[in-house]
Amino acid sequence: MIIRKSQSELDKMRASGVLVASVLSKLAEMATEGVTTLDLEVAAEKMIRDAGAKPAFKGYFVQAAGAKYQFVLCTSINEEIVHGMPSARRKLKSGDIISIDTGVQLNGYYGDSAVTVPVGKVSSDVEKLLRVTQESLELAIEKARPGNRLFDICGTVEDHVTGNGFSVVREFVGHGIGTQLHEEPQIPNYVDRKNENPRLKEGMVLAIEPMVNAGGPESRVLPDRWTAVSRDGSFSAHFEHCVAITQDGPWVLTRV
Ligand code: MF3
Ligand code: CO
Repeated sequence: MIIRKSQSELDKMRASGVLVASVLSKLAEMATEGVTTLDLEVAAEKMIRDAGAKPAFKGYFVQAAGAKYQFVLCTSINEEIVHGMPSARRKLKSGDIISIDTGVQLNGYYGDSAVTVPVGKVSSDVEKLLRVTQESLELAIEKARPGNRLFDICGTVEDHVTGNGFSVVREFVGHGIGTQLHEEPQIPNYVDRKNENPRLKEGMVLAIEPMVNAGGPESRVLPDRWTAVSRDGSFSAHFEHCVAITQDGPWVLTRV
């Protein structure tokens, strides 16, 4: 069942979304050469707690890992797709790209968003990977309207990514969001005909999150049981927004 939210619930989700957006914009500025991913973690946790919110990921049980995640952020560098863990030993260098993914819980409602940013100078191929992945999210957001169907979102991401010569990661998906970080429906970044294709209705809130490899679509998880990487070592990009479906069109809760 896809839970639909009232206007007052959406207003609360907007507050969570604004906080996530402000955290990510600060971290994106911080992500320069010599900064460690633990520096980003510490700054994020302070901002979230100072706002009276709770980090959504820290202590969150993930079935696939069989454990609770221990950090406020996922910091996934270069060939890492998602769930990279902050570390004092991981220093950013020029040419890296870093996906910074975070979530908060505020007044009982979750917000969740991710950006991938370049560190220093990156190649034009990598710039294209970032651009196409972000475009695929923006195009998908445009489909988040009453009367459309879930596959309109999934297929829009898939077509834009594959049309530009990149690959959609299949093992990780977007999700509904509300009083739980992960609610129905699952939102693959491709049309999965084994899944249902529900009609989108006012009040639904979707966390749409394309994960795109520059090379092949295959992924694997490192022995740390969390970090997902592209199998071929190609760079991977990730963007995420929470979007409410309203009569007036898509409302991007995690954008200021
Ligand atoms: N943004 C991711 C998601 O939507 C991360 C949550 S998993 C966690 O699923 F382990 F980091 F908590
Ligand atoms: Co998410």
